[in-house]
Amino acid sequence: MSKAVCPGSFDPMTLGHLDIFRRAARLFDSLVITVVVNPNKRGMFTIDERVALIEENVADLPGVTVESWTGLLVDYARTVGAVAIVKGLRNSTDFDYEQPMASMNAHLTEVDTVFLVTDPKYAFVSSSLVKEVAKLGGDIAELIPDNVARSLATKLA
Ligand code: PNS
Repeated sequence: MSKAVCPGSFDPMTLGHLDIFRRAARLFDSLVITVVVNPNKRGMFTIDERVALIEENVADLPGVTVESWTGLLVDYARTVGAVAIVKGLRNSTDFDYEQPMASMNAHLTEVDTVFLVTDPKYAFVSSSLVKEVAKLGGDIAELIPDNVARSLATKLA
């Protein structure tokens, strides 16, 4: 059984994330989407809210679960017996950010990182831009799942 973890802040998840979850779920027998807690950063959504929003969107994907984790990612990967970490790459800026982490994680453990190139239609989408545009009244409905749109609207009301 090959297992992978797909970590991130997911504050909140976008359709770009969902595309990566779906594609990663096809590559591995099981996938744990891991909402990683950053103790130094308070997001717009609580960790439990982020987990619940993702869970509703991946309920139809066999072998996919959603959890949260505080601490070193490779410790989590070892704990759950994952052989790989899956990340989406939108552009070269993502690569420059991700490459040292992938190398560090490989240095710390035997867990390798697998990069999936983001679907071009989501290459400009990020959680932070979605929040900024939504706060300023822009229409981001086509970039996020319906439950995230509802939750975002409630928070901004
Ligand atoms: O969605 P993000 O914010 O780009 O995700 C980054 C994340 C959470 C995956 C990364 O910061 C991470 O792995 N944090 C866990 C702590 C850790 O293991 N740090 C060392 C990385 S080499």
